[in-house]
Parts: sequence; structure tokens; C-alpha cells
Amino acid sequence: MGGNETRLVEDIYMIGVRGMENLDVFVDFAKNMMKQDVVIAPWLTWGDGQNRIPTHLQRDIEGIAERFAHLHWRPDWRITLTGSYPISRNRVAEAYRETVSSTAVYLSHLELGQLNVTEEMVKVAERLTENFVAQTDPKVFVTFYLLTVIYEDLQALEYYGSMQANDFVRGHLHRPWGTETLSGELEAAVSAEAVEVDTAADLVRLTSRGKEMLHYIEGIFRESGFFTSRSKLIRLNNFNHVDDIASMMEALVPTACEHRKTVVELSGIQPGMAVLELGSGTGALTFEAGLFQRVGPDGRLVATDPSTSMLASVRRKRESYNAHWVEVVHGKAERLPFPANTFDSVIGYAFLHLTDMDEALREIARVLKPGGSLITLHPLHFPARNEFFLEWFAPLLKTGGTPRNQDNLPGPDTVPSAMEPHYEIVHLQSLDLEMHYTSPRTVVEFFVGIVDVFEEQMATLPWRARHDMVQQLIKRGEEVCRKYPPESLVEMHPGQFIRAIVRK
Ligand SMILES: C[S@@+](CC[C@H](N)C(=O)[O-])C[C@H]1O[C@@H](n2cnc3c(N)ncnc32)[C@H](O)[C@@H]1O
Repeated sequence: MGGNETRLVEDIYMIGVRGMENLDVFVDFAKNMMKQDVVIAPWLTWGDGQNRIPTHLQRDIEGIAERFAHLHWRPDWRITLTGSYPISRNRVAEAYRETVSSTAVYLSHLELGQLNVTEEMVKVAERLTENFVAQTDPKVFVTFYLLTVIYEDLQALEYYGSMQANDFVRGHLHRPWGTETLSGELEAAVSAEAVEVDTAADLVRLTSRGKEMLHYIEGIFRESGFFTSRSKLIRLNNFNHVDDIASMMEALVPTACEHRKTVVELSGIQPGMAVLELGSGTGALTFEAGLFQRVGPDGRLVATDPSTSMLASVRRKRESYNAHWVEVVHGKAERLPFPANTFDSVIGYAFLHLTDMDEALREIARVLKPGGSLITLHPLHFPARNEFFLEWFAPLLKTGGTPRNQDNLPGPDTVPSAMEPHYEIVHLQSLDLEMHYTSPRTVVEFFVGIVDVFEEQMATLPWRARHDMVQQLIKRGEEVCRKYPPESLVEMHPGQFIRAIVRK
């Protein structure tokens, strides 16, 4: 190996293969990190290719990262996984910078329901990262960060088969935020024999050793739940980009309003009750479906959603319906800003499948009064694919090898068994939705871009390919919609209605 520091540092590539025995260390590390709301996801910070953090806050984060690197990095600091490799100070600072940045973006989504990062969120991200690093081995931290970097590099090469060396170092297909380090990474990947360069064609390719490394890292990410949490972040991020989920749903499910009214009718909610609506979106259940009238001015109705832009629309509706008893509160199902035993009923239309279900069900049980009820209508797995669907979504269904779960929606037993520890189900019925596949852009943006029902397939795609896949599917959808008569582009999507009483 060359003597210069960058080259040596990049020797991190030498881990993998012989480092299998270390898998548990990283799996535990990742689980712990996610539990503490610390996030390593540079793509979240960069969104569509531009840093979302205002320049003055980026400077603050640089300072924080330098301070952390100063505290933790030592000149003799080496990664000792399958050998002993020095780590440069710059790489350590970079790991901290990307972690504090993506944690700040994540917190802004989570706590504020917005894309803008505030100074306060940077401070919280700094504190969370600092606490977390204090409890772990900083070397494991930096190594894990480097694993995420290597993963994105190798995954892109596997997906594209080969790449022009120039494309690789510009990173525009897989890591546009990595331009400063990508050429070093390529050099290192070549020295580690993970990647080979066809000098005549100037093409870069993955070797069999590179594939083994990639699968080793994938194993860590899958086993620790890192992939699942990445998909959750993608969804959180997507919802905050949509102002009007209701009109998208209207195009997909034109009878959604009737459907919501049925849910209100079956809810058992009575005037004067204290009711919490979760995942209210723009307030279609509360207002258009008449929940606010059912609860009435003697009751209390709180509409919540993690997305602030949607809540702005709920507030506007509250004015126009003159419904002063409706409160609008920012919140997500897994962490509700209410004391225990507050509500007679908690209700939600098409939200439960988007949550961490066990956490959400526990939290809902906490805020329900004894004898209180949870009412949910959620979609279930896609029905058996019909011809038009298979033709339309073929490129996505083919990715990720053999399709395991075709989608990430619940099965018929998923919600009932998750409810078992806390609730008694008193009413369960199928309530199917008539889904129209006649607006290709809305269909694709909703299922793939927002709800991310094909998360398993999408998670295997590099950064740019995720975006390209959406565009490709929209185009295919337009062709499919021209080819098939509109009446054949309708399918009944299974839905499950549940009313359950909390056990307290
Ligand atoms: C498919 S939309 C349904 C919106 C609304 N209930 C309706 O009937 O139009 C799902 C909603 O769930 C919200 N959501 C996403 N993740 C959530 C979570 N973890 N907890 C609560 N709501 C969530 C989204 O922001 C979005 O508004």
C-alpha cells in the first residue's frame, strides 16, 4: 500500500470477508444507534442533490465535527478488524459531520414535520451524537460510518454492472455528496481488490471479493434493522414533501370519502367524547367525512399528523367549518404528546401501516382511558397481481433478486396479532377500496415515491436509480394506461377495519 495517509486510511476496504466474526459488534452498534435517534444517512441531508442545511448551520456542524474529531481521534488510532489500519483525522471529522447533519435533518422531520433544519435541531443532534459516542467505542462508530460509505459505492457498481471511472468519482449516480473522498475510495477499493479497472475502456467493475464484501455489509444492515429504518426515513421524508395527500388519494381511490364516512359510522364514537385522530393528513376524516360533527362542540377532537404542511391545511379547514372544538397538534403515533388516559377513542384512516406498529399500539393504549377504543382502517397486501400491474411494475418487481415480500403492507393477521397484548378486538371486517390506476404519475408517486410499499426492492437501488426508477415507472404507466381500457385499470384493494377496546 502507498505511504500517503489517504491511501492508508482507505484501507478500511480491507475489512469484510475475513471480518465476518465482527458482524455482531456492528449489528449491536446499529441497533443501539437507532434506539437513540442517531442517524447516519447523508442522502437524507442531500435530498435531491443539494445540502438542505443552511450554510451558517453547516459551518456550525463543521465546528462540532472538528471538536469531536479532536476529542476522539489519536494519531495512533487504528482499526483492528482483520489487520491494523490507520484512520485519518479528516475521515473521523467527516463521520461526525455526516452523522450530526443527518440526525438534524431527521429530527426536523420527526419533531417539526418539516424539511428546514433549525439551529435548535442542530444542537439536539449534537447532544444525541455526543451521548451516543460516549457510550460506544468511537472506532466502531467511525468504522460503521465507513461501512455505509463502502456499501453505497459497491452497491452502485453491482447495480450498474460497471461504471466509467469518471462517473464513479463524480458520484452523481450514487453519492453526489462524496465528491471529496470518492477518488480515494476508488483507489483503495482497487488496492483491496474489491474493484477492478478496465484501463482500455476506463470502466470500473466489482470483483468477486467486492461482491463478498457487499454481501457482508448487507448482512449487517439487514440483521440490525438498518435497512428497515432507512426505508422508514425515506417515507418520513416523502410525506413531508406532500402538501395534499387527500387529492392524491382522491385520484387513486375516488370513493375514499364514502369509505371514510363508513369508518366514522362504524367507529362507535358518540357526541361529547374525547377523540384523537392519528395520521389526519389534510383532515379528510375529521372534516369531509364528518367526524367533527359526530364528536360535536361538547366533545374534544384532536387531529394529529407528523407532517406540518398537512396540518396547516387542517387548520384552514377548521376555520372554514368554524369547528372550534377541533385541536390541531403535531405528532406521530409512536410518541404522542398527551398524558396517559386522555381519550375515549383513537381513530385513524390509512395510517397504522406507516408506523412502527408495536410502538404505536403501545403508545395509543397509553393515551386511551380504560374501556377506550382504537378504530383503524388500513390497507392489506396487494391483491394477486393482474396483467396490467405486472407489465407496469416489472422493472421494480425484478430488482432485489427473488421477490420475497412483494410489498410491505400488513397481512390479514399482522394487526390483530400486534394488538393482542393490549387490546380486545370487538369488530373486524373487510372494507375494500376501489383503486384506480388511471393516473400514472399519482399511482407511482404515491406507492413508490411516498408510501414506499416496495421498500425491499427500492432499498437495493443506488441513490440516482431510485429517482430514475420512479420516472421509468411513470413512463411505463402512461403506456399501460393507453394500452388497457380504463375499466380494466381498477382493482379492489383489500382493507381491514378494526375496532378494539384497550385492556387496562
Ligand atoms: C395515506 S395518508 C392518510 C391521510 C388521512 N388519514 C386521509 O384519510 O386522507 C397517511 C398519513 O399518515 C401520516 N403518517 C405517516 N407516518 C405516520 C406515523 N408514524 N404516525 C402517524 N401518522 C403518520 C402521513 O403524514 C399521512 O398524512
